Amino acid sequence: MKITVVGAGNVGATCANVMAQKELASEIVLLDIKEGFAEGKALDIMQTAELLQFDTRVVGVTSDFSKTAGSDVVVVTSGIPRKPGMTREDLIGTNAGIVDSVAQNILKYSPNAIIVVISNPMDTMTYLALKKTGLPKNRVIGMGGILDSSRFRYYLADALKAQATDIQATVVGGHGDTTMIPLTRLASYNGVPVNQILDAETLKKVAADTMVGGATCTKLLGTSAWIAPGAAGAALVEAIVRDQKKIFPCCVLLEGEYGQNDICIGVPVVIGKDGAEKIVDYKLNAEEQAEFNKSANAVRTMNSVLKDLNII
Ligand code: 2OP
Repeated sequence: MKITVVGAGNVGATCANVMAQKELASEIVLLDIKEGFAEGKALDIMQTAELLQFDTRVVGVTSDFSKTAGSDVVVVTSGIPRKPGMTREDLIGTNAGIVDSVAQNILKYSPNAIIVVISNPMDTMTYLALKKTGLPKNRVIGMGGILDSSRFRYYLADALKAQATDIQATVVGGHGDTTMIPLTRLASYNGVPVNQILDAETLKKVAADTMVGGATCTKLLGTSAWIAPGAAGAALVEAIVRDQKKIFPCCVLLEGEYGQNDICIGVPVVIGKDGAEKIVDYKLNAEEQAEFNKSANAVRTMNSVLKDLNII
């Protein structure tokens, strides 16, 4: 198994680090355009191999996509991150050009790869990668919902004074501060509906904190978060390479599911060796569906910028 991570910044390097520790592949290639940067990050990771007892070889390369040849999965993290006060949407002009050229290079050297997109604005970057590569929809997957759901579980656990591992909760919709939809009605504490334990006001605050979970980190850190985003990317890759058939909220192309077409947005998906193997098209209630439609409209407006910029 060979995995490539494009972009050796905080998210890319963390993702590679977690994947190495989990031994998800015999080789992980970390690529960056900044001279020597990926090599440095790869070396730092490899110097933990004995300490952390893993056999995966992490190789850093500068810009040379030929070294990524034959990858089974490619994770795209390239692009600029958010600064405090910026939305993910503010990054579109810069990151669209980067993701476009990265997608072409991936396809050239790894024609059979499954592409995982983390670059922001993630829903639009996933749509762009899908359109520009022409790959079947199961092979282009955006990672946002896994991260947002992990944040939702954290805030619920905090409110419940419980362990996050005992919480089941999902965030669907766009990966934006105002477009994501924490599905509070369906969240449970080991099967017990959380809305039977927590009051409405607390649940409202948990949902609101979840939606700005990334922005809160950005404000504190001065740049985007990377530990949870990197780990969430690794969880998605793990489900693919270990053929786990996990249901994860992922950004995939909808063709009628949830009443939407021609859009990549977060919905529950079965993830296995073929990538996004099956969309779980379950019924939202009227209020949730209205929020989903609103979220889809916002993502669609963002996607239209790609046309304005003549990128698609
Ligand atoms: C986040 O939500 C980087 O989009 C990522 O932190």
